[in-house]
Amino acid sequence: MTARPDDPAPNPHATEAEVEAALKDTKLAQVLYHDWEAETYDDKWSISYDERCIEYARGRFDAAVGSAPLPYERALELGCGTGFFLLNLMQSGVAKSGSVTDLSPGMVKVALRNAEHLGLDVDGRVADAETIPYDDDTFDLVVGHAVLHHIPDVELALKECLRVLKPGGRLVFAGEPTTAGNFYARWLGRITWKATTTVTKIPALAGWRRPQAELDESSRAAALEAVVDLHTFDPRQLEAMASSAGAVDVQATTEEFAAALWGWPVRTFEAAVPEEKLTMGYRLAMYKAWLRLSWLDENVMRRVVPRQFFYNAMITGVKPGASAK
Ligand SMILES: C[S@@+](CC[C@H](N)C(=O)[O-])C[C@H]1O[C@@H](n2cnc3c(N)ncnc32)[C@H](O)[C@@H]1O
Repeated sequence: MTARPDDPAPNPHATEAEVEAALKDTKLAQVLYHDWEAETYDDKWSISYDERCIEYARGRFDAAVGSAPLPYERALELGCGTGFFLLNLMQSGVAKSGSVTDLSPGMVKVALRNAEHLGLDVDGRVADAETIPYDDDTFDLVVGHAVLHHIPDVELALKECLRVLKPGGRLVFAGEPTTAGNFYARWLGRITWKATTTVTKIPALAGWRRPQAELDESSRAAALEAVVDLHTFDPRQLEAMASSAGAVDVQATTEEFAAALWGWPVRTFEAAVPEEKLTMGYRLAMYKAWLRLSWLDENVMRRVVPRQFFYNAMITGVKPGASAK
């Protein structure tokens, strides 16, 4: 379970000149930024491969698809990162075997390592979602999580998904920012970062301040982040793109309203303070609060707030030509 020998090597220590060049080249920025993040990504986003994230990944899949006869034989993930979505979906019984792909060699390396630890039947390669390096009609399922908003030509990537899917095969993308959700998440994040890094300058709170070098590195990462985040979506626009790419049975769904309004300041606060301040008790309390707010979103907010104001969008569709799974 290693990367292909012809795949490029990870580059976790980009030079100033490379970062400068990446500010003008979005695909180079994707590779530098995500190679840089690969080894610490799971910790940064609290990604795990246990019950908590298996349930989360499966919950997103079920919310997007409804019911489907499982398992799929062979699945592909685009922009796999460390493998969060497909590896956890496979653990939940969604697919028997998988291929993880990403533009960042560092991410493919970590995803394959995670798959190996979990004993899953997974191979992987470095791949651009706009030119997927697999033959037509290869996969039963193509998935992605938080990747479409990084791809310059989203419709081209969706067409590529349909090309590599077998007739009747399904695509499922989740974790995409809606336009309204991204607006309030960014503002809440900015305000929380400013407030936390200002308040922790008070000498009595010095223990809550991360070393300046780490804060500077976060700010440099944020500059690249602005180059790698290319799109936000309206659910209707996602549906139109998937249909125009050739998918049928297309459906966009959104989730997280109260959970996102609360979650973005929490995540930003966590990134701004030293890791050791975030005890297990604190993390558990935050997770439980998120679950409660998600319940509120599903059972109350969904009835009163229009779908485009929720933060997370997902899209599913089927390649025409055989009965859908
Ligand atoms: C926000 S991360 C999400 C990673 C993972 N799917 C997750 O949810 O944890 C986006 C990933 O998409 C990858 N990516 C960006 N542009 C891409 C492209 N054109 N083709 C394939 N992967 C891409 C990045 O390298 C990165 O690993």
